Amino acid sequence: MNCTKPEFAWLNGQILPWDECLIHARSQAAFWGANVFEGIRAYWNEKHQQLYIYRLADHLKRLRESMKCIDMPATFDDSVITKACLSVLKKNAFREDVHLVIVAGFGFGENYDSLGYTTDTLMHITALPMPRSPRYDSGAQAAITTWRRISDESMPPRIKTGANYHNSRLAQHEVVRNGFDTAIFLNQRGTISEAPGSCVAMVSRGQIISPPGSSGVLEGITLDSIKKITQRKLSIEFIQREIDRTEMYLADEVFLCGTLAEIQPIISLRSKKNSQRYSWTYYTGYTEAI
Ligand SMILES: Cc1ncc(COP(=O)(O)O)c(C=O)c1O
Repeated sequence: MNCTKPEFAWLNGQILPWDECLIHARSQAAFWGANVFEGIRAYWNEKHQQLYIYRLADHLKRLRESMKCIDMPATFDDSVITKACLSVLKKNAFREDVHLVIVAGFGFGENYDSLGYTTDTLMHITALPMPRSPRYDSGAQAAITTWRRISDESMPPRIKTGANYHNSRLAQHEVVRNGFDTAIFLNQRGTISEAPGSCVAMVSRGQIISPPGSSGVLEGITLDSIKKITQRKLSIEFIQREIDRTEMYLADEVFLCGTLAEIQPIISLRSKKNSQRYSWTYYTGYTEAI
């Protein structure tokens, strides 16, 4: 993707030039990854000549929940954040699909104590043009990573914090170095969890099955959309339960779903690059029907 730099961003209540949207290197947000965030898509509609933000209210609700879990006070209310998102989109005059990111982070603790509790918070909102991934059509080759997903006892995946993505990076870099497109994590119990930046689901015996929040996953808004569409429009059974690794190997279809990924078919799931053992390709099915 060749992405030109947007002109404007939003920081602590103000629209600023993109290059001036800066936070201090020693803030807890930057130094320790002490932040929570949401990534949201806005879709350009050519016919209406408008951008439509996808489920903003639900993303703001999850942002509040993440803030609550890390005991972060709310500096801006939802209406202010909503207006700020709209102003970032309007000021940049985007006419294409966009990825909006809202970050709420901790500033400085007393005496610059990096671990000390502080009510000093910051917030920034940025947006970048974000076309659909080519893997939406081509599908992705996945491998189970040797890294385990973080768990609710130590680094809760339910909290959408930047620090959690260290675990995601380790897994993604490992499988990309080994020639795959995406990692799939097992959780601490050894059952299927999620991908580094999206949920994972499978189609098996006519049901769509995805791991629940207790499997060490971020509870996905895209997955929730799939649940609603399958139940209301397609009459396909959607269930959330623990999934064994071998169940996923034997599934009819597997797909990733998340804001950035949207819905991406997994066209092979292997542990070694040239192993045919758990490799399959599918051409049609529920993934396309959604
Ligand atoms: C680790 C992780 N899991 C799942 C998801 C999917 O969540 P959503 O559909 O709300 O974007 C994301 C995407 O943000 C993610 O980063």
